Amino acid sequence: MSSVTGRNKTPVKTAQSTATVADPARRRLLTAGLAAGAGAALSGLAARPAAAAGGDPLITQVQDWNRYLGDGVDAKPYGTPSQFEAEVVRRDVPWLTADPVSSVNFTPLHELDGIITPNGLCFERHHGGTAEISPADHRLMIEGLVDKPLIFTMEDIKRFPRENRVYFLECAANSGMEWRGAQLNGCQFTHGMVHCVVYTGVPLRTLLEEAGVKSNSKWLLAEGADASAMTRSIPMEKALDDCMVAFKMNGEALRPEQGYPLRLVVPGWEGNMWVKWLRRLEVGDEPWHHREETSKYTDLLANGKARRFTWVMDVKSVITSPSPQAPVTHGRGPLVISGLAWSGNGTIKRVDVSTDGGRNWKTARIDGPSLSKALHRFYLDIDWDGSEMLLQSRAIDEHGYVQPTKDALRLARGENSIYHNNGIQTWYVQANGTVENVEVS
Ligand code: MTE
Ligand code: CO
Repeated sequence: MSSVTGRNKTPVKTAQSTATVADPARRRLLTAGLAAGAGAALSGLAARPAAAAGGDPLITQVQDWNRYLGDGVDAKPYGTPSQFEAEVVRRDVPWLTADPVSSVNFTPLHELDGIITPNGLCFERHHGGTAEISPADHRLMIEGLVDKPLIFTMEDIKRFPRENRVYFLECAANSGMEWRGAQLNGCQFTHGMVHCVVYTGVPLRTLLEEAGVKSNSKWLLAEGADASAMTRSIPMEKALDDCMVAFKMNGEALRPEQGYPLRLVVPGWEGNMWVKWLRRLEVGDEPWHHREETSKYTDLLANGKARRFTWVMDVKSVITSPSPQAPVTHGRGPLVISGLAWSGNGTIKRVDVSTDGGRNWKTARIDGPSLSKALHRFYLDIDWDGSEMLLQSRAIDEHGYVQPTKDALRLARGENSIYHNNGIQTWYVQANGTVENVEVS
């Protein structure tokens, strides 16, 4: 691991990390140098011949771990990752927010594989810190336009028929810092406000039916028990569709950061509606937006108008490796290009990958389950000839929505937006394997 350069750097706004490839001469230079060989069929060998290893002491000598007994089964009642994975952690960007209590940290996407995010690595976003609530003291209340207002204990909730569903959660502000240009050097920071776990819980519909929702009800207000007492209005149609009241993630209890003991799951919709530490649901006939942050639900456009009710997280993807925090360290030859794709509208039908800044595209291989409103894992296995690449991925969902370029997004919505940036990301892979966040246009 010692030869790895630039890994897990905390991003700083240096001239290098804010670099954009806007200068046409430089852009031409870049694309001219992009050899077709980058996409050629696999021919090289990923392993070296045994004979070449010769006097490697790791083969010829007995190592410590081969000689001494290790820890017993009583050493770690709750297991933790290997000491050699200590760099694989959530990270925050200190200059982004005024304090860590109303703040965000980011999932280390560049270190992960498959589609499930480990619980301890799910990004955290909260407005008043993490509430520590004993499940014995937690209550969920349903009131408003219902036949009988109800109060549930955690024990009550666990007596209803439950279901297991895999969903991604993406903050509406994910990639928001990248609207005006390439800024943060790493997909952890540009795209890490997303995670995907399997939730166990009770359909929200079940609890609402228990209370008896009146026929004139149109909206549901969800409120959290944390210090920010965050509230969000959700249209009743969505509440009765696929929302869940979840108490487990990836098989174990929710983590405190993710809303222990109870959170709302609003599949495919922006993260701020997924109220954590869920304590109250009020059924009404109009939205409560006046009680909520005025910036929410609106996307400011260039003409001063705003897009409202933009709740669905549109089709999006990013290459997680190679990426600025995960450079190519092995030189030319076989290279696994890997990434994530997702859509709040359903499954991902196809992901295309370009190694030349969007001039030519190859269809990537989606591997693992393809679940609606969940992360999808894709790969493109290439034989890298060692020349520079401009890596991009472009996802297409089951409805045929195609991930737009950042330029197309800016044309449609201007430069003032922060929310819902699902534009195509570009990574500039240099011949020495280092990777930089850039833009091509
Ligand atoms: N719920 C409460 N009670 N308080 C909060 O501050 N933050 C919201 C949402 N639910 C928040 C909350 C936002 S903006 C997002 S993006 C998601 O929680 C983040 O969920 P996570 O921390 O599990 O990643
Ligand atoms: Co958010």
